[in-house]
This record gives sequence, structure tokens and C-alpha cells, in this order.
Amino acid sequence: MKHDIFSLKGKVALVTGGNRGIGKVVAEYMADAGADIAIMDLDDASAVAAAIAAEYGVRATARVCDVTRREDVRAAMASIAGELGTLDILFNNAGIVMHKPALELEPGEWEKVLGVNLNGVFYVAAEFASRLVSEGKGGSIVNTASMSGSIVNIPQQQASYNTSKAAVIHLTKSLAVEWADKGIRVNCISPGYIATELISFVSPELLETWRGMIPFKRLGRPEELAGAVIYLASGASPYTSGCDIVIDGCFTVV
Ligand SMILES: NC(=O)c1ccc[n+]([C@@H]2O[C@H](COP(=O)([O-])OP(=O)(O)OC[C@H]3O[C@@H](n4cnc5c(N)ncnc54)[C@H](O)[C@@H]3O)[C@@H](O)[C@H]2O)c1
Repeated sequence: MKHDIFSLKGKVALVTGGNRGIGKVVAEYMADAGADIAIMDLDDASAVAAAIAAEYGVRATARVCDVTRREDVRAAMASIAGELGTLDILFNNAGIVMHKPALELEPGEWEKVLGVNLNGVFYVAAEFASRLVSEGKGGSIVNTASMSGSIVNIPQQQASYNTSKAAVIHLTKSLAVEWADKGIRVNCISPGYIATELISFVSPELLETWRGMIPFKRLGRPEELAGAVIYLASGASPYTSGCDIVIDGCFTVV
């Protein structure tokens, strides 16, 4: 390529929730595009980081970190920057889901979903941006929202999840405007149903119902999100910020 605009070579990408699922697969594709990788996850992702380093010849590291604990997020980020030199890209992806009618939520369950999916996303984005500002450089943030941020899924009831993801979409737009003059772009992706462990608790009957509702008649795969994340993270999208890319096999189109 004459203009290697999708390359992430020389960039350091932080991926939250990168021990498995979408985060792990997208981290692999970002490494394939040349980025050094840092994973923050509740679980120890050092084996994932070691495999990425071996396969793609990049530097890769991992920190155990709960994104709902802002002090821990700050400390993990400082430690990663100490090891890899800096940070350039954030794939802000850690999240959880709960299928439960709103009237049956136990105390603390609403707060738990909003705590990870909204507060966690904000804490990581804010600590990342603050680090970039102190280094006097720009960067790119890609948040993982969901199609559930724009529509209400049925037949399962998941108001906490839907609300958290709608908030991620508007947080993305708000931060994009606030940080435009700092050279920090903020975008999000909104996946449809993607086959990962997140939905491993879903019954075969419900999965069949979902398949019937998706015009593509199948769930998506994590690797089908990687191109959009790399586009938003890379020099291919310098004028794109505050945007939400929906990747859902046409689920929300009909
Ligand atoms: N799978 C889907 O159908 C789907 C659809 C739309 C959006 N999403 C979103 O994509 C993102 C990734 O989902 P996935 O399907 O890969 O899920 P997953 O459960 O397979 O992986 C999520 C990862 O996040 C980590 N994590 C959870 N809570 C954390 C916390 N507090 N701090 C740090 N790490 C934490 C987990 O340990 C895990 O490694 C989530 O934000 C999810 O809401 C998923």
C-alpha cells in the first residue's frame, strides 16, 4: 500500500476485557496491524498477551484490573505506560450483561451493570485521555456499545444493559466533542449478537429465536468487528469522531 492508512505500527493499544471474547480477538487483529498490545481484565490475561507477542512479533502485556475501580485503572495504566513507553489507542470494551425483568432486579444488580458498562467505560476513557493530555499528544478511543443502545431487544428483558449501552453511545458523542480540540477522537461500535462466552448462558431456544430475527440468519463472529475498530483507531479515520458503527447483520435495519 502506498498510503498505509490502516497500519497501527508504532502505536500502543490498550484493550479492556481482552482476556476473551471480542476484546481478545480484536486485540489479535490490532497486533496483526502492527500495534503493541496492553490488556486490562478482571482475569489474568498474561497467557493471551504472551500468545499475541509470539504470533505477531509485537510487544504485549497484561494487568489484572477491575475497570469499576478508578484508582486501580489509573495505576494499571501508569504501569503499562511505564513498560510500553506510552499509550495511543484505547479499545474500551469490558462489559457484562444481565437478562432480568426490571421489576425482579435485586438490590445492587442495576448498579452492577451500570457500574461496569458505563462507569467503567468512563473511568478508563477519562484516565486514558488525561494521560494523553499530560503527554501533549492525541489518540483514538473506540468504545464497545451495542445495538441494545439503540433498540430494545426482545423477548429477553434487559433494561439495565440497554440503558448502559445507550449511555455509552451518548458518552462517546459527548467526549468526542469535549476532546476534539485535544486531538483525541472518540467513537464506538455497536455489535449485534456476537457468539462469545458473554451469551453462553442463553438457551438454544432463545438463540434460535435470535437467529430467526437477524436478516443474516446467524450470529456475528468477534473477528467481524475488528475491521471497524482498526479503522476507527487508525490514521484511516482522522476526521471521524462521535460516530457509532453498527455491526449487526442488519438486525436494527428491519
Ligand atoms: N457478545 C455479544 O453479543 C455482544 C453484543 C454487543 C455488545 N457486546 C459488548 O462487547 C463487549 C465484550 O463482550 P464479549 O462478548 O467479548 O464478552 P465476554 O464476556 O466474552 O468478555 C468480556 C471480558 O470483559 C472482562 N470484564 C468483565 N467485567 C470486567 C471488569 N469490571 N473489569 C475488567 N474486565 C472485565 C471479562 O473478564 C471478560 O474477559 C462488552 O462490552 C459487551 O457488552 C457484546
